[in-house]
Amino acid sequence: MLRLVVLISGGGSNLRALLDAAEHPDFPARVVAIGADLPADGLAHGEEYGIPTFVVPFGAFESREAWGEELLDQVRQWDADVVILSGFMRLLPPAFVEALSPNLLNTHPAYLPEFPGAHGVRDALAAGVSETGASVIVVDAGVDTGPIVAQERVPVLPDDTEARLHDRIKLVERELLVQVVLGIANHRIDLKDLT
Ligand code: GRF
Repeated sequence: MLRLVVLISGGGSNLRALLDAAEHPDFPARVVAIGADLPADGLAHGEEYGIPTFVVPFGAFESREAWGEELLDQVRQWDADVVILSGFMRLLPPAFVEALSPNLLNTHPAYLPEFPGAHGVRDALAAGVSETGASVIVVDAGVDTGPIVAQERVPVLPDDTEARLHDRIKLVERELLVQVVLGIANHRIDLKDLT
């Protein structure tokens, strides 16, 4: 059984998709803990599904490095095979990434390397493209620059707002994430081969 720790900052709808998939007895992965950098709304999913949660508040530490060390300590307690950043909106210090790589994944609401960064949906709309997408990548030292594990295109519709487009992208992102987790658990995807 693949052990997952999921880190979030927001509502955790992608996390919830994973929790739902993992409810199925045949699904070969379980979320063993949910972490956040603030008291994120999505931590409520943990309560609902009976999964332990932890918060390592960024503001409580003197430096990004000190915060990252504590976050890494907390994550390591759960003996995870893969750590997933799912709407985790805080840059991680290099030591954190190096300690977990390549078993550290991020989901991103654009077809990387197009539109990296915190506003991937907004930037795609502003660029006036006819399609954008969703990606799951291995986290490396850069911002959304790591090897791509899976990605899919999503059309931009004429009347799209940022929220509407993001909602449609998230549907795809969730499915990609579940498929990637399944692929890793079934050894169809080897993250070491990608790095
Ligand atoms: C996702 O689109 C993720 O890629 C982005 O923020 C969104 C998180 O949504 N960085 P949720 O918290 O899973 O609802």
